[in-house]
Amino acid sequence: MIAETFHRQAGRLFCEGVDLAALAERYGTPLYVYSASAIRRRVRRFHAAFAGLPVRFCYAVKANPHLAVLRLLAREGVGADTVSGGEIRRAVQAGIAPERIVFAGVAKSDEEIRLGLELGILQFNVESREELARIDLIAGRLGRRAPVALRINPDVAAATHDKIATGRRRDKFGIPWEKAPEACREANGRPHLQLVGLHLHIGSQITDLAPFEQAYGRLFHLADQLQAEGIHLKRLDLGGGFGVRYRDEEPVAPERVAALIARLLGQRELELIFEPGRAFVAEAGVLLTRVLYRKESAGQKLLVVDAGMDALLRPVLYDAWHEILPVVAPPHAPQETVDVVGPICESGDVLGRGRRLPRLGRDDLLAIATVGAYGAAMASGYNSRPRPAEVLVAGDRADCITPRLEPEEVMARERVPAWIDRDGEVAGGGDGRAA
Ligand SMILES: Cc1ncc(COP(=O)(O)O)c(C=O)c1O
Repeated sequence: MIAETFHRQAGRLFCEGVDLAALAERYGTPLYVYSASAIRRRVRRFHAAFAGLPVRFCYAVKANPHLAVLRLLAREGVGADTVSGGEIRRAVQAGIAPERIVFAGVAKSDEEIRLGLELGILQFNVESREELARIDLIAGRLGRRAPVALRINPDVAAATHDKIATGRRRDKFGIPWEKAPEACREANGRPHLQLVGLHLHIGSQITDLAPFEQAYGRLFHLADQLQAEGIHLKRLDLGGGFGVRYRDEEPVAPERVAALIARLLGQRELELIFEPGRAFVAEAGVLLTRVLYRKESAGQKLLVVDAGMDALLRPVLYDAWHEILPVVAPPHAPQETVDVVGPICESGDVLGRGRRLPRLGRDDLLAIATVGAYGAAMASGYNSRPRPAEVLVAGDRADCITPRLEPEEVMARERVPAWIDRDGEVAGGGDGRAA
C-alpha cells in the first residue's frame, strides 16, 4: 500500500485527503476507491525513467477500463493497448486518439477488425497466420492497408502464477518465434497489410528482469534477421507485465528496464512500445468491505465480509495475496488471527487466510489493498449480488464514478419469452419436440 496515498490520521485510514470510512458510509460497500494522484505519479515515474528513449506507453485497458481512469491517462500522453472492440470504444471515448491505440485481441471478430481499420488505429497485434489473412481480406474490402505487428511467442517462462504466464510455448498466444520469419514474409507480401513491427507479452506480475531480457533479446534478434532480409520494421511492442508489490515482492524499477532497453536498442532506428496495465493502476486502489458476521469453524476464526470473489476475483483465480487492514484501527483491541471470507456460496471465496487483525465485529470496515488493477474490471454479478460501486479521489475531492449496479437494473434487461406464462407453464407443453 503506498504510504503517501493511503495513510492514517487518528487511527482512520485516508485516501489522499479523504476519510475512507466516510466514503463507505456515503456510498455503501463493497466500494472500490482509487487515487488519481497515485495513478499520475506512477505514469510520470515511467515517463521519467524512459526519457530520451524512443518509447511510448500504451496502457493495457483491461487492468482498469474505467473512463475516468482512461481520461487521466490520456492526459498524461498515454495510448491504449486494447483486446476487444469494447476496449477500443472506451479508449476513444476517453479521448485517446486512434493513432495511439494498439489492438491485441486473441480472437478478433470481423466487426472488431473493421472498427480498428475505420478508426485508423496504430496497429493490430496479430496472433496467427490465419488472422493475417482475415485482416488482409477485410482491409482489402474497405480499400485500406492494415498496419500489423506479429505477436511472437518467445518461449520464455517468467516466474509468475501459471494462469498469467503467456510467453511459454504451451501458452495459446502468438506465433512460435522460430516460425516468425516465415509469417513476417507472408505479412510483408500481402497487398492490404503493412508489416510495421513485432510484439510480445510474456505475462503479468513479473518481478525479475531476466525473463524480460531474454524475451526482448529474442525480439531484437528477430528484427535484425528480418532487416538483413530487407524487411524493415518500424517498431517493437514489448508488452507489459511489470510487477507491483502486493506483499514483499521487489518489483523491477522502471529505470532498470530503461537501462536494459538502451543497451539492447543500441543504434537501431526502432520505436518501442510498452503496455503496462497493473504497474500504472494497481497500487492506486483499495476495496472497502464491511464485516457482517464473526464465526468459528474447526477452531478457526472467520470474519464474513460483504465483498467476495464477485467483487475481487484475484485471490481465488490466481491465489493472489492482498493486504487486508482495518479502516478504523480500534485503539485497544487485542490482535487475533482470522480468515477473511466473502459471502459467495463457494468454498474458494476467501479473501485472505490467517491474517493478524485487531478484533473486529459487525459493521467494522476493512480495506483490501492494491486492487486498482484487475479488481473492478473482473467483478461479476455472481450470486446476484450488486456489482461494487467505484469512487475516484483527488486531494480532498471524492466522486462516485460507478454507482452500484443493483439486481433490479440487471433484471430489467432480462426478458421472459411470451411462451412462458406467469405460472412458468410452457405453451404447447414444452416437451422438447418441435411445434
Ligand atoms: C497483450 C498484453 N499486454 C499488456 C498486458 C498488461 O499486463 P500487465 O498488467 O501485467 O502490465 C496484458 C495483460 O494480460 C496483455 O495480455
